[in-house]
Amino acid sequence: MIAKIEQLLTEIENLSAGNAEELEALRIKYLSKKGAINELMTDFRNVPAEQKKEVGMRLNELKNKAQERINSLKENFANQETGNNELDLTRTAYPIGLGTRHPLSIVKNEIVDIFSRLGFSLAEGPEIEDDWHVFSSMNFAEDHPARDMQDTFFIEAHPDIILRTHTSSVQSRVMETSQPPIRIICPGRVYRNEAISYRAHCFFHQVEALYIDKQVSFTDLKQVLLLFAKEMFGNDTKIRLRPSYFPFTEPSAEMDISCNICGGKGCAFCKHTGWVEILGCGMVDPNVLEANGIDSKVYSGYALGMGIERITNLKYQVKDLRMFSENDIRFLKEFEAAN
Ligand code: DAH
Repeated sequence: MIAKIEQLLTEIENLSAGNAEELEALRIKYLSKKGAINELMTDFRNVPAEQKKEVGMRLNELKNKAQERINSLKENFANQETGNNELDLTRTAYPIGLGTRHPLSIVKNEIVDIFSRLGFSLAEGPEIEDDWHVFSSMNFAEDHPARDMQDTFFIEAHPDIILRTHTSSVQSRVMETSQPPIRIICPGRVYRNEAISYRAHCFFHQVEALYIDKQVSFTDLKQVLLLFAKEMFGNDTKIRLRPSYFPFTEPSAEMDISCNICGGKGCAFCKHTGWVEILGCGMVDPNVLEANGIDSKVYSGYALGMGIERITNLKYQVKDLRMFSENDIRFLKEFEAAN
């Protein structure tokens, strides 16, 4: 009996299994009801009384060792399945590398933050829009060139459905569902059918602001613009407004800031003028208020819109617009510190 136990012990120590089925076969061979060990247990009753103690101990030892061996083989398989068999519980935890925020998101958040502090709240609208919200409600004449197929992405079967070409459409979305006072800031992606190059892309990002209340004047607009420019580009920043034209504002203006790259002295970026254009703005045209259900005799307002890529370029001098949408980790990593 003892010899048989010894033999099984050596067998068990050298057990190996190539896969889970082989292991199960081994378990059945040694540990199941009809297995080798149980057979010995049955024989145990024939062991002479004076040997019972020793044989009993050896039998128990055999049973435990067999169970242990099978368990450890089983663990190996389980670890292999989860790819964990090299888990080293003593190694120090290494830090999980954090991603970086996209430069356009960094700048967008900064713009939104400045306007939020002035009481503007966030508003959003759909990127897939209709002609009414993008053009008609914003006072674009039926034959305005911006409606041209060359600028706007149309869906052939549904010419009324378009990709918005500017975030001004969100103005209309908000006005049609709420009454003044309205004070909103709307960041978002816009689309134009442009050939992609280092300075143009078929999609880019804008931020729109709209303020409508009683007795809102151009002075209010100018004050907010100056404050925004100083917060965004530094306290020494100067602004200037040039008369311009947009269908949805009257009067309209474009705003330049003193070039923050050369400090206004003149450089290649500002084409040696000392000024760079950053946004369009104006007093909301009464036609726009009326088209969107707001009484233009009671209320007035201002609006402004800017390109996020342009502001980002001014802050970080990204020379090629395409970098923003290429997902090149090396480029994105450069903005780690700005997060
Ligand atoms: N929507 C204009 C554009 O895409 C930008 C703009 C100009 C927005 C003047 C405004 C504004 O709200 O008042 O070029």
